[in-house]
Amino acid sequence: MKQPLKIGHRGAKGHLAENTLESIQKALELGVGAIELDVHRCRTGELVVIHDFTLDRTTNGEGEVAGKTLEELRALKIEGKFKIPLLKEVLDLIEGKCRINIELKGSHTAPGTCEIIRDYLKNRNWSYEDFIVSSFQKNELFEVYGIDPNIPIGILSKASFPEAIELGKLVKAKAIHPSIGIITRANVKLSQQQGFLVNVWTVNDPEAIQRMKNFGVDGIISDYPDLL
Ligand code: G3P
Ligand code: CA
Repeated sequence: MKQPLKIGHRGAKGHLAENTLESIQKALELGVGAIELDVHRCRTGELVVIHDFTLDRTTNGEGEVAGKTLEELRALKIEGKFKIPLLKEVLDLIEGKCRINIELKGSHTAPGTCEIIRDYLKNRNWSYEDFIVSSFQKNELFEVYGIDPNIPIGILSKASFPEAIELGKLVKAKAIHPSIGIITRANVKLSQQQGFLVNVWTVNDPEAIQRMKNFGVDGIISDYPDLL
């Protein structure tokens, strides 16, 4: 049986505070093949790594990420000790060690993300296949495709496999990223027959991990990548 790519969710969310450099370092130590993380654009334009649109759940701050300056965000603490990283800091940390799945969570994240990717392709030790940019937001994916059609795209879906495949064709996506709640063996096969990889999220339970392997998925995104 083929071994799917091990993808650490928000770093290694099950072990350390999500989307922090420490969590990403932990995922690297657990031997991941890729790391998934979420990006938002802050008020001063930089791309920061955080899941929610607001600061309240994961930091000691409050309010919208998009309404804060980088300086304001950098002053905040996660679990009393960690910081909100910049996307660039994550790329610097994992360069040459694994691939990255950048989820465009916030609005207006496509242009800045593409700019960073193209900078790292040109000036650093990264290649196109080290990246996959995913999103639930169609407009961000169309923007990525318009800026550079060579950047690999993943279509995130928690509702409909057929719709994800249709959108995937429009933006020449590399992969479909379905939630475990919509996956079936037939959907996996159909997607792969149409040329897409299938990377499923978020799979933490050993029985479900085995089921996804039996389905022949290409990648599994997990809070506990060590279980993969
Ligand atoms: O990219 C897979 C998964 O992370 C999407 O959902 O809410 O965990 O960002 P969420
Ligand atoms: Ca995510």
